[in-house]
Amino acid sequence: MKGVILAGGTGSRLYPLTRLMNKHLLPVGKYPMVCYGIDRLRRAGITDILLIISKQSAGLYTDFLGSGAAFGVSLTYKIQEAAGGIAEALKLAEGFIFTGERFVVLLGDNLFMDDLTPYVETYLLQQAGTAKVLLKPVDDARRYGVPVFDAKDSSLIAYIEEKPNRPKNKLCVTGIYMYDTAVFELIGKVSPSKRGELEITDVNNLYAAVRRLSYDVLKEWWSDAGTFQSLSEAGEKLKDLLP
Ligand code: DAU
Repeated sequence: MKGVILAGGTGSRLYPLTRLMNKHLLPVGKYPMVCYGIDRLRRAGITDILLIISKQSAGLYTDFLGSGAAFGVSLTYKIQEAAGGIAEALKLAEGFIFTGERFVVLLGDNLFMDDLTPYVETYLLQQAGTAKVLLKPVDDARRYGVPVFDAKDSSLIAYIEEKPNRPKNKLCVTGIYMYDTAVFELIGKVSPSKRGELEITDVNNLYAAVRRLSYDVLKEWWSDAGTFQSLSEAGEKLKDLLP
């Protein structure tokens, strides 16, 4: 199994800090943000990792992480030229994943404490061509993708509403996804959203529409570090997680 960390995007909610460097290199505790995703993958035995990065700060990534050897992983880098959306960034992983192979995708600003191993294990038991997302209860679900469950089979998601004004429940879809290579064909089927991006929620909804989207709920702390408040909270929470 391989891992893909999406660390492109503009980080506009963290201006002006992100004028200096890409969001995923900002400090969280003792390390740049991106290191926590690498650590979670490595702990789940996933050591072959693709980092999708923006042109901004590309040299800083390689300066700090190098080949990945010092972090117990093997890193490959790809550049997303412009922030065209999460699904557009994910499409860049196509050549890195072999036909039929399964992989975990992490949004680089998603920070969490759960061990991914049990979730990966249950995903590996699923049929080929299916996907899994991880959920977490949050205070304000309007900021996230929010799942609506299948009325007949509560182990499936019927659809996801992206940033709904009136969320149908308190769970959000985190930026932790599991796919096989079928996802690349589905990305080819989605069109840019109103904000001009290829949305991962549109891709996940193609799985959901054919009852191929399962989920698990994270048990431990999770946050996306996309705002100043969540960034400083994450720094406090994770300051002793890595040596
Ligand atoms: O954090 C979980 C949420 O992430 C989900 O609940 C939403 O369903 C999902 O759409 C996403 O929402 P955001 O609005 O928070 O996504 P954002 O645009 O902030 O991008 C999140 C990460 O994806 C960020 O770490 C960088 C990466 N990214 C984003 C874009 C737009 C890329 O690598 N390339 C891109 O072009």
